[in-house]
Amino acid sequence: MFDNTHAHITTWAIAIILFFVAVGLHNAGKAKGMKVVHMILRLFYLLIILTGALLFWKHQGIDPALYGVKALVGIWVIGMLEMVLVRMNKGKSTKVFWIQLIISLIIVIILGFKLPLGF
Ligand code: HEM
Repeated sequence: MFDNTHAHITTWAIAIILFFVAVGLHNAGKAKGMKVVHMILRLFYLLIILTGALLFWKHQGIDPALYGVKALVGIWVIGMLEMVLVRMNKGKSTKVFWIQLIISLIIVIILGFKLPLGF
């Protein structure tokens, strides 16, 4: 968990799948199912942050600025995942948050792969 990115990749990949499952359930009108998946997704937010923070603490000395930006953009992605689902449930517009989600996700993935660990 400290020296390779496998656990971190696993947590965010599962979170993104759960996010789309939650959106699908919402669109299918399955409010109860969505609520359950949303709760599990929130647990995965914590796991993403935990695995990201462990990598951060061990390796940020390599390039503190870029690691700091990576962590902040990671939190931004999580914030947007949550905003889209919460606003969807309230029947509010989600467009601005979908756009931010796509932008932040692209940036975090580019930054993640640019940093020295992993691929
Ligand atoms: C949904 C949110 C996130 C996504 C999609 C994401 C994505 C990624 C990706 C693609 C990598 C590169 C993996 C590799 O090269 O093998 C990575 C690495 C990393 N992530 Fe995240 N991440 C997210 C959240 C976070 C958070 C919240 C933190 C900090 C608390 C964080 C800290 C790190 C660190 C420190 C690395 C290792 C960088 C390195 O040395 O190569 N990430 N992440």
